[in-house]
Amino acid sequence: MSLAATLQELKDSALVRIAQATTLDELEAIRVEAVGRKGVLANAGKEMAKVPKEERAVMGQLLNAVKASIESALDAKTTSFAAAALDARLASEWVDLTLPAPGVKPGALHPVTQVQRYLEEVFTSMGFAVLSGPEVETEFHNFDALNIPPTHPARDMQDTFWLEGGNLLRTHTSPVQVRGMKRLGAPLRMIAPGRVFRNEEVDPSHEHTFYQLEGMMVDREVSIAHMLYFMKTLLKEIFQRDVTVRLRPGYFPFVEPGFELDIQCSICGGAGCAVCKQTGWVELLPCGLVHPNVLRAGGIDPRDWNGFAFGLGLTRLAMMRYGIDDIRLLQSGDLRFLNQFR
Ligand code: FA5
Repeated sequence: MSLAATLQELKDSALVRIAQATTLDELEAIRVEAVGRKGVLANAGKEMAKVPKEERAVMGQLLNAVKASIESALDAKTTSFAAAALDARLASEWVDLTLPAPGVKPGALHPVTQVQRYLEEVFTSMGFAVLSGPEVETEFHNFDALNIPPTHPARDMQDTFWLEGGNLLRTHTSPVQVRGMKRLGAPLRMIAPGRVFRNEEVDPSHEHTFYQLEGMMVDREVSIAHMLYFMKTLLKEIFQRDVTVRLRPGYFPFVEPGFELDIQCSICGGAGCAVCKQTGWVELLPCGLVHPNVLRAGGIDPRDWNGFAFGLGLTRLAMMRYGIDDIRLLQSGDLRFLNQFR
């Protein structure tokens, strides 16, 4: 067979195989075999020496033309594979940007936060400022300024987490009474919701970390009747019904007289359960008339002013409000539990 016929056949068979190839690997194999350095065209080129001199130029051109047409067929097929791959990718990753976004599932406020926010609204509507104090407190503000000197047995009522340097994690929100008086002076109406910490034996109604809401009013001739009015309003707003309460004497060095306001347990309806320790009552709202020493610590003269204060157990109030029978659930982080209060 003449060299020209061999080249023609080479070209035809390569073009057919290129047309039939279905993968890039097949194309590469054809390229190596047909136009590679040791491929059939290269071998055919060696035959050029045997071609008569006068035909060599024509044969050379033919060889180059065959090589060029095989290479351009390879390129065209490679490009068509890339285009097909891109089409497939676009089809599978297609996104309709005009559709509404799937969106993030909106979060919700924790039940204790919900109760807190609600009470903030109730009290601000009655002219109370909402204050906050530090969770890491000085011993002075947590105890001394509240009429609890270092050696006083009342310090044992609240088992405290002490920090290095004499500071502590506040055991109640009452230190904000003193901070509030110092900052705003008299007359004063303030509440101070916040987190408090105690070294507690944890059980269904006791946590080591829980929330309180402090309330304080300082004015002229404030009475226990004023105090009861605000506390009853608070309970009525939260429960949206009359709740059964009882008032009994309570001892706190920073009030005189002092009271405990208990609420009938709404988990058991007063029959007795683990939350109320079988008593039917839950300690919720200790309160009293502010002790003169505390007014003095806040820079207010007790000869001109007096006041009431209360320390609401905010976490317990949320339990009573929503019928939660174990305080530990509130800090469990369990979304199945929390989603019930969305
Ligand atoms: C106090 O903390 C006083 N500072 C309250 C006060 C303020 C009295 C102003 C007078 C005037 P007590 O230790 O009782 O008081 O706590 C107040 C409320 O916090 C309790 O009635 C209870 O509802 C809640 N509480 C106390 N300990 C825990 C606890 N470990 N877990 C959850 N709630 C608690």
